[in-house]
Amino acid sequence: LNRLEELRKKDSLLVIGLISGTSVDGIDACLARISGPSERPVVQQLGFLTAPYTNELRREILAVAGGDSRSPENLCRLDHAVGDAFAQAALRLLRETRTRPQDIDLVGSHGQTIFHDPVQGTTWQIGEPTRITTVLRCPVISSFRRADMAAGGQGAPLVPLFDALLFRRKDRGRILLNIGGIANVTVLPKGEGTQGVFAFDTGPGNILMDEFVSRATSGRMVYDEGGKIAASGTVDQELLAGFMEHPYFLEKPPKSTGREVFGSGFVALTLGEGTRRGENMNDLVATLNEFTALSITESIKEYVMPVASIDEVLVSGGGVHNKTLLKRIGEELDSITVSSFESTGFSPDAKEALAFALLARESLLGRPGNVLGATGAREHVVLGCYTPAPLG
Ligand SMILES: Nc1ncnc2c1ncn2[C@@H]1O[C@H](COP(=O)(O)OP(=O)(O)O)[C@@H](O)[C@H]1O
Ligand SMILES: [Mg+2]
Repeated sequence: LNRLEELRKKDSLLVIGLISGTSVDGIDACLARISGPSERPVVQQLGFLTAPYTNELRREILAVAGGDSRSPENLCRLDHAVGDAFAQAALRLLRETRTRPQDIDLVGSHGQTIFHDPVQGTTWQIGEPTRITTVLRCPVISSFRRADMAAGGQGAPLVPLFDALLFRRKDRGRILLNIGGIANVTVLPKGEGTQGVFAFDTGPGNILMDEFVSRATSGRMVYDEGGKIAASGTVDQELLAGFMEHPYFLEKPPKSTGREVFGSGFVALTLGEGTRRGENMNDLVATLNEFTALSITESIKEYVMPVASIDEVLVSGGGVHNKTLLKRIGEELDSITVSSFESTGFSPDAKEALAFALLARESLLGRPGNVLGATGAREHVVLGCYTPAPLG
């Protein structure tokens, strides 16, 4: 605990943020220097990489996240294997940025979500933290979502604190849109601090397109590179209209969703329906792409525009590389500027890892990490579990 006290006194911390999202594509690892007061932190992105999962580990995670019930032994092994993969991703980041392990102050490790149920208030991110502390020899904060759920929140999204502290402006209303497996928005009305900030998951991000492409090509492709397949297909308007009636879109924010709602079941349905109608892969990818775009823009029109005046949308997450998706979002929100989060000086792929680096620092300092307008929690809570570094 002495080390904890020492860390708390430092003006600036060198922090590693680690996360793998619902896409289960790989571990995003970023190195950041964070300083400044809590209300106005200064974050410097010093390095970033994505360490892809091995095919085997990815398959196992997807099986568990898809509802395959495993024995405690298998789950336990997976928890440790993911922890090892996270530790290796952090080590690679250190090598690539020529950073000495002893210079790292703290790691914020989100882990890999294998189950998330905001209705029952349970969530599980695996990636055993002691596998990271033993290798990096520094403390780790993990399991960020549980304290918020215990306080009646959705446990998600947690990135809004980072969004509000770094990107809120007095003269501009902004939406920060992250398109990962699931898509979410943080709404930053003109102003300062976290007052009035709200956030929610709009629905599917890349998840449906990824799974469909992967099934249709028997795993030869795992996503629609640049959105090329979608661009070459024709949208099935009838199928699309049915998708848009999904009850999730009628729920008012705060709300969060996951693979349990928009996952394999949804894709199997699309595949079945599409095959029955004799449609080809390109048309069905185009339909899922359009569904993803509209679920984002309709949510913005329904739940954001009536309550906040918005000037721009900054897009991050892997979906920013899907040109067809971005083009459709831009067209639907014609009065608002839609651009890549890159313009902020940070990498759009690094955003969530950076956010968990910042959240780890907040937790270390004993400060709350949840934004009530984002998760719907009753009260502010300090997030995460602290695993100390080994002695010596
Ligand atoms: N070049 C690309 N073209 C199209 N889509 C891409 C590209 N690169 C990444 N993606 C999409 O981004 C996803 C990963 O996004 P990410 O932000 O890591 O999501 P998550 O947070 O769920 O892991 C991939 O599964 C893929 O769908
Ligand atoms: Mg990812």
